[in-house]
Amino acid sequence: MFLCYLSLGVLVFQTTSLVLTMRYSRTLQAEGPRYLASSAVVVAEVMKILTCVLLVFKEHNYSMRALNSVLRQEIIHKPIETLKLAIPSGIYTLQNNLLYVALSNLDAATYQVTYQLKILTTALFSVSMLGRRLGVYQWLSLLILMAGVALVQWPSESAVAPEKEAPSTGSQFVGVTAVLVACCSSGFAGVYFEKILKESKQSVWVRNIQLGMFGLVFGLFGMLAYDGERVRESGMFQGYNTVTWTVVALQALGGLVIAAVIKYADNILKGFATSLSIILSTLISYFWLQDFDPTGVFLCHHLGILKRNLIRTCFILLLTEMGAQFTK
Ligand code: C5P
Repeated sequence: MFLCYLSLGVLVFQTTSLVLTMRYSRTLQAEGPRYLASSAVVVAEVMKILTCVLLVFKEHNYSMRALNSVLRQEIIHKPIETLKLAIPSGIYTLQNNLLYVALSNLDAATYQVTYQLKILTTALFSVSMLGRRLGVYQWLSLLILMAGVALVQWPSESAVAPEKEAPSTGSQFVGVTAVLVACCSSGFAGVYFEKILKESKQSVWVRNIQLGMFGLVFGLFGMLAYDGERVRESGMFQGYNTVTWTVVALQALGGLVIAAVIKYADNILKGFATSLSIILSTLISYFWLQDFDPTGVFLCHHLGILKRNLIRTCFILLLTEMGAQFTK
C-alpha cells in the first residue's frame, strides 16, 4: 500500500514538472537553436533502459552474472514475450513525439486538461481488454470529465494568447489533435502494458527494458526520418542545454514511475493522480510565467487565465471527489 501511494505521489510531482519544463523549453526559452524533440525522445529512452538495468542489477544483489543470465533468459531466449512489448512501445514512441507537438502549440494548462480525456480512453480499454466493470459513479465521473474538457476548450482563442510573443506560437488545432491522438494511444498502451505485467510474474524493470529497447529502435527511426537532415548537419545534441537535460530526465523518470504505478496501483488510479497535477501546474504556471516576464506585459492575459483556471480548478476538485468514488 505504501508503494502504491508513493508511486502515485511521485507521479503527481513528475507530471507537473515535466509539463512546465517542457513547455518552457519549447517556447519561452529563446536563445540559440531549439533542440530536436525527436532526439530528446531517444535520449530519454536510453536513460530509462540504463536505469532499469541498474534496478535489475540491484534486484539480483549486484551480481553481474545473475544480471547477465536474467537479461539473456528473459529477453533473448523468449523472443515472443519480448516481441509483445513492441506494440505498446511503438505506440508510446508515437505518443512521446506527439507530446512535443502538443506542447509546442498549446499552453500547459489547456494541454493538461485536454489530455485528461485519457481517463476515458483508459477506462474504455480497461473494460474491453481487462474485463473490468464500471459502476454508475465511475461512468458519471468520466462524463463530467468529458464535459469539463469541452468547457476548457471553449475560450480557445485566448488560450494561446499568453505565448503570442514566444518563439513558437503554433496552431491550437494541431495541438488539440495531437493530444486527442495521444489520449487514445495512452489508454491502449497503458492497459496493454498492465495486461502483460499482471499476466506474468516477470519483474516490471525487465519488462521496461524490453519496452525501452523497442522504444529506442523506433525513436531512432523516427529521429532519422523526421530530423535526419538536421542531425547530419549539427548532430543530435544540437540546442541541448540544462533545461533540455531536465526535460529528458523527467521524461525518463516518468516512464519508470508510470511502470511502478501500473504495477502497484492501476491505470485508472494513475489517471486520477495526474488530474491532481493539473491543479498544481495551472497554479504554478500562473506565477511561474509572471516570473519570467518582469515587464508585466502579460499581466492582463494572466488575470484572464487565473479566472479560467479557477473554473478549471473547481471542476478538477469535483473530479477528484468522483475519483474517490471511482476507487472504492
Ligand atoms: O500519458 P501516459 O500516462 O500514457 O504516459 C506514458 C508515458 O510513460 C510514455 O512516455 C511512455 O513512454 C512511458 N512509459 C514507460 N514505461 C512504461 C509505461 C509508460 O516509459 N512501462
